[in-house]
Amino acid sequence: MKQNIRKYFKEYQWPDIMAMIRNNRSAPAICRERFNGKLVVITGATSGVGYVTAKKFAAQGANLLCINRNQEKSERLRQEIEADFGVKCDYRIADLSNLQDVFRVSEELRQWPAAIDVIIHNAGVYLTKRELTPEGFEKTFMVHYLASFVLTHRLMEKFKAQGSGRVILVGSEGHRFAVWGLDTDDLHWEKRRYSGLKSYGSAKTAQLLSMLIFNDQFEGTGVTINTMHPGEVKTDTGQENGRLYRWFKKHIFDKTLKPAEISADALYYLGVSDEVSQVSGKFFNLTTRENPAPPAADREVAKKLWKITLAMTGLDSETGFSGSESNTLQNTGK
Ligand SMILES: NC(=O)c1ccc[n+]([C@@H]2O[C@H](COP(=O)([O-])OP(=O)(O)OC[C@H]3O[C@@H](n4cnc5c(N)ncnc54)[C@H](OP(=O)(O)O)[C@@H]3O)[C@@H](O)[C@H]2O)c1
Repeated sequence: MKQNIRKYFKEYQWPDIMAMIRNNRSAPAICRERFNGKLVVITGATSGVGYVTAKKFAAQGANLLCINRNQEKSERLRQEIEADFGVKCDYRIADLSNLQDVFRVSEELRQWPAAIDVIIHNAGVYLTKRELTPEGFEKTFMVHYLASFVLTHRLMEKFKAQGSGRVILVGSEGHRFAVWGLDTDDLHWEKRRYSGLKSYGSAKTAQLLSMLIFNDQFEGTGVTINTMHPGEVKTDTGQENGRLYRWFKKHIFDKTLKPAEISADALYYLGVSDEVSQVSGKFFNLTTRENPAPPAADREVAKKLWKITLAMTGLDSETGFSGSESNTLQNTGK
């Protein structure tokens, strides 16, 4: 850690911090082009940012394929979208905290007969207490980072074959909570004291780091990948936490937050606008380009994390994840 403090301290720049503060007050750029008949995949479309974003794309003529964990909410969403906008709204049920579900749904997307024009990795959780997934991964890390990593990795060939497509990671300014970077020796918070903010910051930092390598992989293919902060907006986030947290969220935090429609406007702009069609590997605060915190731009750590992630998920073997126990935490040397 001391090493990291020395390494990153000098890279933190006041102008970057000031830009973030300024950008937090900015409205997103608006794209007015239609997106008729295009296919947009959204994870976590049943509430908050994902829900309003699904409606925004549908209102502009896009068909949707939503990856959600809740059957009832998904069916309600499908009926609402199809009735209100006359587009197709498919969904698949997958718990993105379960690696087997992630691989299953990735496979379906890989085989999807139509081109995927945009994929928005939006699903997320904020957990004040450490939780583990069936594979023994820390849950925040799994849902935000590993799930979006596996899906993107499994879709790389499809996207390259299409020669077009935009991958958008819904990140967060919260990546800055991982002030001194990612601890690649303790990605699942076994050795350190867990905190909701720090684990969230680490997962979002990991996502930004993976973007750097995916961007290399997509170079020259017509496919882009970017990460965006959706604003500080009022959503259902944190509902899994205790009563005290929920009380503060409802009575204090929520009163300071903006409507999630700004996130949908920003995601629509990043997914559709010609102005960003050639932009890749960047971080946006809504639609304004911004430098992420230094640890999230560290290419050495990005390469290391990439290798660890391939091993952890079984993607480094030829067949990928088999659902066997060989991919559990115990067997990744942790
Ligand atoms: N709200 C903000 O101010 C803010 C700021 C920065 C970044 N973000 C990011 O924005 C994204 C969306 O968050 P939100 O604020 O809109 O929160 P939200 O209202 O809680 O929505 C989260 C969505 O993710 C889904 N989800 C959660 N865990 C899942 C799992 N294991 N498998 C499948 N789906 C799962 C939820 O499904 P259910 O409906 O079934 O719960 C819901 O659809 C997250 O990535 C978050 O980190 C939000």
